[in-house]
Amino acid sequence: MAGERDGDPVRRALKMGLASALSSYRDELGGGAADALRHDLADLLDAELAAAALAAAAKVAGPPAARAAVAHGEAPPPSETDTIDTLSARFPRIIGRSPKMLAVFRLILKIAPTDATVLIHGESGTGKELIARAIHDLSARRAGPYVAENCAAFPETLLESELFGHSKGAFTGADRQRKGRFQMADKGTLFLDEVGDMSVALQKKLLRSLQEGEIRPVGASQGIKINVRFISASNKDLAELVRKGLFREDLFFRLSPIKVTLPPLRERGDDLELLLERLSADAAKRCHRAPPTYSPEAVALLRRYRWPGNVRELQNEVQRVAALVDPGRPVEPRDLSAEVRAGAGA
Ligand SMILES: Nc1ncnc2c1ncn2[C@@H]1O[C@H](COP(=O)(O)OP(=O)(O)O)[C@@H](O)[C@H]1O
Ligand SMILES: [Mg+2]
Repeated sequence: MAGERDGDPVRRALKMGLASALSSYRDELGGGAADALRHDLADLLDAELAAAALAAAAKVAGPPAARAAVAHGEAPPPSETDTIDTLSARFPRIIGRSPKMLAVFRLILKIAPTDATVLIHGESGTGKELIARAIHDLSARRAGPYVAENCAAFPETLLESELFGHSKGAFTGADRQRKGRFQMADKGTLFLDEVGDMSVALQKKLLRSLQEGEIRPVGASQGIKINVRFISASNKDLAELVRKGLFREDLFFRLSPIKVTLPPLRERGDDLELLLERLSADAAKRCHRAPPTYSPEAVALLRRYRWPGNVRELQNEVQRVAALVDPGRPVEPRDLSAEVRAGAGA
């Protein structure tokens, strides 16, 4: 499954076999079906190999110019878009074609099939939950449960029983035994968001659970074996919290064998326009309207703004516009929120 066996003759033969099989069926199948096929292939082989096979097939059977070149015995022209298309097709719910997002996609495709523990870091609204979900969907555990929990949403004692469950009579109101998120995620993936907000006492319990592969529900005398792939996320810099003594160093190392860093929206270049188009269409649909057109001046302002709330903030902005701007006229700078117009956050 590793990527460094390109020189392996078996691997090469497989690649060529797949490429020629896909190329002979691609015209009959069409793009969508070829995508589905690629997913099936990814189940059988590793993602990198399947993507390479499809890219090769697209070169042979895809653009007419490439096909003509092949017919004349020339090497097909290099096709950067094939790679970007095949890459982003693996992440149907995540919009992004900027170099930084493509680098994230490549990393996810590598690590998703492993059971490695992943820490996702990124400012608020950069899509950490989407990425966690994508890792699960691209993993061997995809048929199992995906369970997500936000550590910042609960006071400490409640969070403990949310995560680990409790036995009957463990505390006032615990009138029956209850399973925690760890047990609910059995044979699947558990995603803990805002893990930096966890109290030091709970950090200790989490560390012990991960180390021992066993949890102890509140009030229980026996441990329960767990089988979960663990993903966590934080918009805080956990290394910084460790330096300040607010986060356990041993837990930090336990959580972060693989670190995925999501770029802020302001570093994603043209992704802003792609997101604007898609999010704006979604927002318009919810308002039962046709999607508005943004004037070049409005787009220029959106591009200049710093977006401290990232994609979530952009989502709010386009929702507001979709609801307030009269359909049938372009969106002008005066329609945008005061922050965006003032370039605040810049
Ligand atoms: N690249 C993206 N493409 C499409 N939607 C996105 C993208 N990134 C974030 N979103 C959307 O923005 C919102 C915030 O994303 P979320 O994953 O909750 O961010 P975070 O957990 O980092 O705060 C969600 O509605 C999500 O669907
Ligand atoms: Mg989140």
